[in-house]
Amino acid sequence: MLTLENVHTFYGKSHILHGVSVEVGPGEVVGLLGRNGVGKSTTLKTIMGLVRPSQGRVVFEGRDIGGWAPHRLAHLGIAYVPEDRRIFRLLTVYENLRTGLDRGGITEQRKTELLEKVYENFPVLRERRNQAGGTLSGGEQQMLAIARAMMLEPKIILLDEPTEGLMPRMVTQIRHIVDVLHREGVAILLVEQNVPMTLEVSRRVYIMEKGQVRHHAPAEALREDQTMIHQYLGV
Ligand SMILES: Nc1ncnc2c1ncn2[C@@H]1O[C@H](COP(=O)(O)OP(=O)(O)O)[C@@H](O)[C@H]1O
Ligand SMILES: [Mg+2]
Repeated sequence: MLTLENVHTFYGKSHILHGVSVEVGPGEVVGLLGRNGVGKSTTLKTIMGLVRPSQGRVVFEGRDIGGWAPHRLAHLGIAYVPEDRRIFRLLTVYENLRTGLDRGGITEQRKTELLEKVYENFPVLRERRNQAGGTLSGGEQQMLAIARAMMLEPKIILLDEPTEGLMPRMVTQIRHIVDVLHREGVAILLVEQNVPMTLEVSRRVYIMEKGQVRHHAPAEALREDQTMIHQYLGV
């Protein structure tokens, strides 16, 4: 469904991605692991058109989307939750979720259904629906950012280190969100440094180093033999 073929990306003169190839199938959860600074976020930014690949292709459902504007990608069904979350701190939880619903081609009834589904899966968001986003804990903000992305009814969500800096209890919650999305048939490209969690929720995993994919394997294989994990992630 989503394919990166031999993607090269630069920031100015710095050559960051050196021929990255990654694939995500419909409804598939795919992990992207690697130490700090290896190019994981840049890979997601390249998919989202926030930085243009100098070489290679990004293909979604057969269309070359390299360099498309983010709102066009959202329309195609690609949602992105960046590392810094970017929720609206002064808007309430409800208003934050509404921003994902202010789009054409969706009935009021469908909007209500989508909100209800999110509130059912994440009761804390219902409890806090009239609270300003900025007053939520880090984990709750992450949950809100993902819930807002879900309002777009995406086919795939790109998650950039959703568990970073969260307490274990919130990591479990984020894990639960990934399970909910997976059950709904949404594909996920999950960038993480949390190895155990990634190996548990993903079907396949790519390991990056220095702007390249050095290894990819079924998550099950990496769970059973952690040699590659030790080699590239040092854990
Ligand atoms: N906007 C930028 N301009 C220049 N260099 C950047 C920029 N963003 C990231 N980099 C560099 O690109 C490399 C990869 O960064 P990034 O994709 O954020 O890695 P990761 O997400 O794996 O930690 C790093 O060396 C980082 O310093
Ligand atoms: Mg990053």
